[in-house]
Amino acid sequence: MSYQRTDGIAPHGGELINRIATPEQKADFLSKADLLPRVTLDQRAVSDLEMIAIGGFSPLTGFMGKADYDGVVVDMHLASGLPWSVPITLSVSAAVAAPLEEGSYIRLDDETGRYIGVLQLTEKFTYDKKKEAINVYRTEEEKHPGVAVVYAQGEINLAGPIWLLDRDPHPLFPTYQLDPAISRAAFQEKGWKTVVGFQTRNPVHRAHEYIQKCAMEIVDGLFLHPLVGATKSDDIPADVRMRCYEILIDNYYPKDRVILGINPSAMRYAGPREAIFHALIRKNYGCTHFIVGRDHAGVGDYYGTFDAQHIFDEFDPAAIGITPLKFEHAFYCQVTNTMATIKTSPSTPEQRVHLSGTKVREMLRRGELPPPEFSRPLVAAELAKAMKASQ
Ligand code: ADX
Repeated sequence: MSYQRTDGIAPHGGELINRIATPEQKADFLSKADLLPRVTLDQRAVSDLEMIAIGGFSPLTGFMGKADYDGVVVDMHLASGLPWSVPITLSVSAAVAAPLEEGSYIRLDDETGRYIGVLQLTEKFTYDKKKEAINVYRTEEEKHPGVAVVYAQGEINLAGPIWLLDRDPHPLFPTYQLDPAISRAAFQEKGWKTVVGFQTRNPVHRAHEYIQKCAMEIVDGLFLHPLVGATKSDDIPADVRMRCYEILIDNYYPKDRVILGINPSAMRYAGPREAIFHALIRKNYGCTHFIVGRDHAGVGDYYGTFDAQHIFDEFDPAAIGITPLKFEHAFYCQVTNTMATIKTSPSTPEQRVHLSGTKVREMLRRGELPPPEFSRPLVAAELAKAMKASQ
C-alpha cells in the first residue's frame, strides 16, 4: 500500500482551481447585471458551478467543451489526458441556446432568479444523450435516476470558464462547509500525513462505521464527507443524515481523528464511473485514500457489487493519485458477535445481519427501529424521529 502525504498530495492536475470572483471582477460583473444574457441553472448545475469555483472539480475551470466531453464519455479522459469519468455540462434547450453568442459573457441565475455566476461562453455543442447514458451509466433505461436527468435536460451544452460571484455559507450546514483549501489546511494543522475520505448519501449504519474504522486503523485521519447536493426523492434528506453523523461522532468516535465536512455535489448514481469521480473530488479536498465499498454510488441492480472497485484497474494508479481502499460487503456476524466481512467471518449467510436501505426505510415507515446489529441505537432513534416528523 502506498502512503502519500496530505501536504504532498496535489490536487488533480496539479493546481487547486479557484474561480470565485475577486472583488474587482465581482464589481464588474454586477455592473453588467442587466446587460448580460441570462441562463437559469437547476439545483445540480448550481452545485457543479460551486464545485468548479471552490476547486472540488480541479482541474476544471468551467463547464466542459466538446473535446473534454467526448474524451470523458468515450474513454474517461479529459482532452489533456487526465482521468475524468463524469461529464460536467451545462445543458439548455435549443431555444435558450440560440441567441447566445460564442465569446460572450452570460449571467447565471439560480432557480429563484438570483445572479450567482458568470459563464464566458466559448462553445455551444449538441451531444448524443443515449451515448452518454450508455457510456456513463451503463444503461439507456429512463428509470435509472441519473439517465432520467440526462434525458430531461436540454439538448445543447454551453461550455466555457465560470466565475462564482460569492461563496455564501451553506444555509443548513455553515460550520461543515469545508472547501478544499480549508480541508487541506485542517489536515495539515492536525499533522495528518494520510487521510481517508468517505463518500455517503445514506444514513450511517454499522457497516459504514466498520469500514471507516478499519481504514482509520491504517491512516492518520478520517474525512467524513457526506454528499448534500441533489439526491433522488426517496433518499433520506441531508439534514437528517448530518444529525446522525453528529450523534455517531459524539458517541462512538475518537473526535480528534475525524473531520466532518459537506460535499455540495449532486448524486449521479453512475456506480463505477462515479466512484472514480468521487475519488478525484476527495483528492482535491486533500485526501490520500478513499473508501470504495459494495455497490458504491449504485442504484437498483444496474452495477455488479464490486464494479466500482474494478474500474480503478482501468487507470494508471499514479494518474488517479488517490489510493482506493476497497472493502468487501460488511455485515454483523452472529457467530463472532462483531461486524465483519467474508474475509474475517466464519458465518454462513443465514448468520449475517445486513439490511438494504429500502428495507430500513420500510421499517422506519412502519414505526419499527432497525436492530442494533444494523444501526447504532441513538442513530436509529434519530432516524425514527425524523421519519415520524415527515409523515
Ligand atoms: S453511496 O451511493 O454514497 O455509495 P452509501 O452512502 O450507502 O451510498 O455508501 C457509502 C460508502 O459505503 C460506499 O463506498 C459504499 O460502497 C460503502 N458501503 C455501504 N454499505 C456497505 C456494506 N454493507 N459493506 C461494505 N461497504 C458498504
